[in-house]
Amino acid sequence: MSTVPKKGSLFESFRRRIKLEGAISVADYMADVLIAPSHGYYMSNEPFGVSGDFITAPEISQMFGELIGFWCADTWYNMGGPTEIHLIEMGPGRGTLMSDLMRAAAMVPGFHQAVKIHLIEVSPKLRKKQKEALNGYNVSWYDDLTDLPAGPCIFIANEFFDALPIRQFERSPTGWCERLITLDEDETGLVFTLSPPSKAIETIIPKELVDSHEGAVVELSSIAANVSAQISSHITQYGGAALFVDYGWGTPTAKPSLQAIHNHKKHDVLLEPGTADLSAFVDFPTLQKSAEANGVSVHGTVTQGDFLRNLGIEQRAEMLRLNADQKQAIDITAAEHRLTDPSQMGDLFKVMALTRPDQPTPAAFPEQKEAL
Ligand SMILES: C[S@@+](CC[C@H](N)C(=O)[O-])C[C@H]1O[C@@H](n2cnc3c(N)ncnc32)[C@H](O)[C@@H]1O
Repeated sequence: MSTVPKKGSLFESFRRRIKLEGAISVADYMADVLIAPSHGYYMSNEPFGVSGDFITAPEISQMFGELIGFWCADTWYNMGGPTEIHLIEMGPGRGTLMSDLMRAAAMVPGFHQAVKIHLIEVSPKLRKKQKEALNGYNVSWYDDLTDLPAGPCIFIANEFFDALPIRQFERSPTGWCERLITLDEDETGLVFTLSPPSKAIETIIPKELVDSHEGAVVELSSIAANVSAQISSHITQYGGAALFVDYGWGTPTAKPSLQAIHNHKKHDVLLEPGTADLSAFVDFPTLQKSAEANGVSVHGTVTQGDFLRNLGIEQRAEMLRLNADQKQAIDITAAEHRLTDPSQMGDLFKVMALTRPDQPTPAAFPEQKEAL
């Protein structure tokens, strides 16, 4: 699987690095491809929509952000309606979700006055888009979660965790190895290779997966686990909640999911790095473990279809259709179907919430059974 790179591309920097330091991990590759300041995918592309590479739920319909707005307002109300609440969105894309969320939540008395918006975004190009979408609101931007505001927070992440770097491990005939990326023979392209097997690798494979069949691939993201831990300890300390929506595994799974998408189609992961989006299924069980270890209650996962239906997407679509012309009504129905149908995003996408244990079960999640 080798390719001829463009001159001056991210490939050139991978070539130099691999020649000097040897094969690199999938996580190092993914981090550079997505957010390297010079040629990273998110740093220099406008990836969303029909003219871009992919479309996300908030870009499919305003209903998605609006229903999350009701979820946030309800969660805030259940917290006793604090006079200051930090609403923190991670990876806000074009700012569409936050804009729809704030418009819908304006109906809840006191919410707008209490909210301070914080966006975690690395891409200067997307920050500019977010600024336009949220014109009129007081917004602060951050590169990462290092400097979280003291005080209760509601964290939102839609299709953020799937962009965080993962490492891949493969069960070879002689034991667990790491999948690495190196140069092909003529040094004009990139190929996958395997590290030697080691006991050290075996110890980090989740115990449910360690006896997987030969060829099985396990994907792990310490960055995602750390983000979940950091958010959880913040909620434990100050109160608040988090909502994670992403495509991913609800149970530990040994299957490779790393993919590249360019122009709405699958693309070779190693081809012309920086020109296609890279993402991987989110490992929700690891996010859950990390959250519980930091003192929060975990709700879900529930499927995106159930989550949106529980929040009233059918009624919202009906209301929107009342004021729509025929073409708009067809579009609203199609968007509802795309967001909720099991054959579309309804089952593949999962939703998990975190709350402080003294808070009630958040809207759209099943009541938790009392421990005996
Ligand atoms: C797939 S997009 C999702 C955008 C948006 N949430 C939506 O649903 O339309 C991923 C977003 O995360 C941002 N992002 C990716 N990696 C990041 C990182 N390591 N730190 C902060 N933001 C990141 C991207 O710039 C982009 O805004």
